[in-house]
Amino acid sequence: MRKPLISGNWKMNLNHFEALTLVEKLAYQLTKDVFERVDVAVHPPFTDLRTVQTVIASDSLEIQLGAQHCHWEATGAYTGEISPAFLAKLDVKLVICGHSERRELFGETDEMVNHKVKAIIAHDMTPIMCVGETLEEREAGQTETRVLDQVRAGLDGLKREQVGQMVLAYEPIWAIGTGRTATADDAQAVCAAIRGAVVEGWGAPAGESIRIQYGGSVKAANAAELIAMPDIDGALVGGASIDAEEFARLVAFAAEA
Ligand code: 13P
Repeated sequence: MRKPLISGNWKMNLNHFEALTLVEKLAYQLTKDVFERVDVAVHPPFTDLRTVQTVIASDSLEIQLGAQHCHWEATGAYTGEISPAFLAKLDVKLVICGHSERRELFGETDEMVNHKVKAIIAHDMTPIMCVGETLEEREAGQTETRVLDQVRAGLDGLKREQVGQMVLAYEPIWAIGTGRTATADDAQAVCAAIRGAVVEGWGAPAGESIRIQYGGSVKAANAAELIAMPDIDGALVGGASIDAEEFARLVAFAAEA
C-alpha cells in the first residue's frame, strides 16, 4: 500500500518570519492521526529552510522538510546555485525537480532534470520529479506522449530500486494556478499511463511502489476525489498550501480518502 504524500510547494512566497508562523499554525492544526495515514511535506523558499528546519526539529514535528530545486553538483563555481549536499545537511528529505515553472521560465531541460534526480538520490533525499503537458499539447492529443517522454528522459539510467522510491508529480501546466483542475478521471488516466511506463522501463515492483502525485489547483474541496483514484498517491499543492486552514483541511480530507 502506497502512503499518500501531500506536499506544499510554497513557490516564491513567504519570508522566513512568515514561514515560521505558517509552520506553527500547521503544526497546531494537523492532528496526530493524520500522519498515520498520509505523509505531509512543506517546500519553503531556500532562505526559509533553516528556520523551518529548526521548528520541525525543536518541536519534533512529523512534517517533512522539502526544497523546491537544487543543482546537481555538490560544490563548485556555480554562482547562485544550491548544492544538494547542503540541503541534505539541513535535513531536507524531498527535493522538487523539473517543475514546469523551472522548465518554462528558467530553461530546465529533461537532461538537467535527469542530472538533478541522480544528485538528489546520491545525497539520500527523495526527488519529486514533475512532468506535465501544456494546453496546446493537450488540445493536440499529445498529453500522454509528452508526459511519458518526460518520465523516460528524467529517469534515464536509474536503477529499479531507485525509481521505486521516488515520487513523480503529474502537473498539467494549464491547471497550475489557474483554478482549472484535471477531472479526477483524466488525472487518473495520465497517472496510470505514467505507472505503466515505469513498469515497462523499470519493472513491476518499481511501478508498484513509486508514488505519483497530482498537482494543479488542488484544494480542500477536490483533494479527496483525486487522491481516492487508484494511481494518484497524493498531491503537490501550490496556492492552497500557503493558507494554514485550507492546507490542514486538505490534508485531513486526503487522510480520509
Ligand atoms: P497550484 O496548486 O497553485 O495550482 O500550483 C500547483 C503547483 O505548481 C505545485 O507545484
